[in-house]
Amino acid sequence: MELLKQIKLNASKLNKRIVLPEGTEPRTLQAAAIILKEKIAQVILLGNEEEVALKANQLGADVSAAEVVNPKTDARRDTYADMMVEIRKKKGLTKEEALSLLNDPLYFGPMMIKAGDADGELAGAINATGDVLRPAFQFVKTLPGVSVVSGAFLMFVDKKFGHDGVLVFSDCAVMPDPDAQQLAEIAITSAKTAQSIVGLEPRVAMLSFSTKGSAKHPLVDKVVEATKIAKEKAPGLMLDGELQLDAAIIKEVGELKAPGSPVAGKANVLVFPGLEAGNIGYKLVQRLAGAEAIGPVLQGMAAPINDLSRGCSVDDIVNMVAVTANQAQ
Ligand code: ACO
Repeated sequence: MELLKQIKLNASKLNKRIVLPEGTEPRTLQAAAIILKEKIAQVILLGNEEEVALKANQLGADVSAAEVVNPKTDARRDTYADMMVEIRKKKGLTKEEALSLLNDPLYFGPMMIKAGDADGELAGAINATGDVLRPAFQFVKTLPGVSVVSGAFLMFVDKKFGHDGVLVFSDCAVMPDPDAQQLAEIAITSAKTAQSIVGLEPRVAMLSFSTKGSAKHPLVDKVVEATKIAKEKAPGLMLDGELQLDAAIIKEVGELKAPGSPVAGKANVLVFPGLEAGNIGYKLVQRLAGAEAIGPVLQGMAAPINDLSRGCSVDDIVNMVAVTANQAQ
C-alpha cells in the first residue's frame, strides 16, 4: 500500500479544498475528522451548521477546522444561480429552478467548484451514483476533447499481477453500454488515470470473451472496433485487444493466445466491454480475492468529482478524498 501513502502525502502537499455534500452523514463526518487531523485536504461540509455540529459532537468527530456551508442560506446562491442559468440556457433553465436546485447539496457542491470556491467533490455515501453524477455532467461537464465520463478502480492485488500488484479496472461505474467509439475513449482516459494517479506506464487490455478472433459475435466485434479506434487516436499507447482476462494478465496464457502482443500477459489497465462486466468484475476481485479497491475514480470530467459506493467505509472516504485532491492538481 505504498502507493496509497504516496497519494495521501501528495494530497497533503497540495492542500486542496474538497467539498463533501453529505455533511451530516456519520461516516463522512468521521472521515472529515481524520482528513483534517492528518492534513490530507481542506474540508468543506455542506449542511445546516447546527445539525453538522450536533452530529459531529455525537460521534466525537472533531471537524472544527472544516468550513461548514449551508446551501439553503449561503450568500453565493444568487451568483451560482446566474451561472447555472447561463450554462443551461439552451435547456431553458430558469433562475427560480436554479435556486431550487441549489437547495440540494449535490448541485451546490459542483457549483462551488465551477465558481472556483472548491477544488473537488466527493459524495455518494448515501446517494445513488446517478444522483451524484447528473449535476456534475450538467454543470461541470467533460474535459475538452472528451465526451464520456467513466469510472476506474485502483485494484491492489497479488504483486505478481499488473504494476507491482496494482491494476486499473475501467469502466466499473458509469457507462452502462458504451459503443465502440466510447469504449475507445474510456481506454484512453483510463490509461491517463493510470499514468497520473498510479504513475505507471500503461499497458491497456481491451477485454472480451474472445482472444484475437477465437470467438465470433457482435459483442466481440465492438471490442475489436474499439481497439482499432483507440490505436488510431493514441498511436503511442501500449494497447491491445481483443483479449480474454487470462490472456491479458497471465504471461504463459498471453504468449500462447496472443503471441507478440505488447500487452498480453502483462496488462496493468483492464478495460471491460461494458458496465455489467466492469462492475461485477471489480466486486468479484474485491470480495473473493480480498483486493483493496479504491474508486470509482471518475475520469474525463472537467473537475475532480468522485462518487462513493453506499457500502463505503470511513477509510474509503479518506482514501477517495486523497485521490480527489491528487486529481485536482
Ligand atoms: N459522460 C458525460 N456526460 C454524460 C454521461 C457520461 N458518461 N452520461 C450522461 N451524460 C450527460 C448527458 O449528455 C446529459 O447532458 P445534458 O443534460 O447536458 O444533455 C446528462 O448527462 C444527463 O443525461 P441522461 O442520458 O439523462 O443521463 P441519466 O441521468 O439518465 O444517466 C447516469 C446518467 C446516471 C450516469 C447513468 O448512465 C447511470 O445510471 N449509469 C450507471 C451508474 C451506476 O449505477 N453505476 C453502478 C454503481 S457504481 C458502484 O458500484 C461503485
